[in-house]
Amino acid sequence: MKNIAVFASGTGSNAAKIIEYFAGHKNIRVALIVSNKATAKVLDTAAAHRIPTHILTRASFYQTKDILKVFNTYSVDFVALAGFLWLIPDYLVRAFPEKIVNIHPALLPKYGGKGMYGMHIHRAVKAAGETETGMTIHFVNEKYDEGNIIFQAKTKIEAEDTAEDIQKKVLRSEHEHFARVIEEVLEGGDASKKSA
Ligand code: GRF
Repeated sequence: MKNIAVFASGTGSNAAKIIEYFAGHKNIRVALIVSNKATAKVLDTAAAHRIPTHILTRASFYQTKDILKVFNTYSVDFVALAGFLWLIPDYLVRAFPEKIVNIHPALLPKYGGKGMYGMHIHRAVKAAGETETGMTIHFVNEKYDEGNIIFQAKTKIEAEDTAEDIQKKVLRSEHEHFARVIEEVLEGGDASKKSA
């Protein structure tokens, strides 16, 4: 059994999709939900599925490195970042090489980097008059949004789409692909060949 830890601090809709996708899976399970917000909705979803949770503080994450012990306790093999904004510290990247993936709601390398998150991205995409955007699933390294790309899916933008419309379209695409791509990475398939 491969054990995934999902990190989520936003609405948690991608995390919820991942939890549902792997419920009852033969080889993969969501073993832990990690958040830096004690009020994150994803913690209720975790409780409903009886998945253990861990709340990070800046000190525990960046200084005392408690997460390594927690990962040990739950035998975590793989990490999926689903709406988690803190930079992943070097010690964690080194402990899990090519085993941490992130989802980003744009076609990286465009609209990535520090400060490019949430509606900031979709507003910038709209302001630039792009006719397409999309989402990217990539491995995580020590820099924001710069690890190797695993999978991208494009989303068409209509002239009348607002930044909010763009966000909804991209999120739908994220829900469609993220769990499946995680499964393919973990089961050794080549997710990259299936770019949409
Ligand atoms: C998603 O758009 C994801 O790409 C980004 O943060 C958002 C999280 O949304 N990293 P949700 O919390 O899963 O609804």
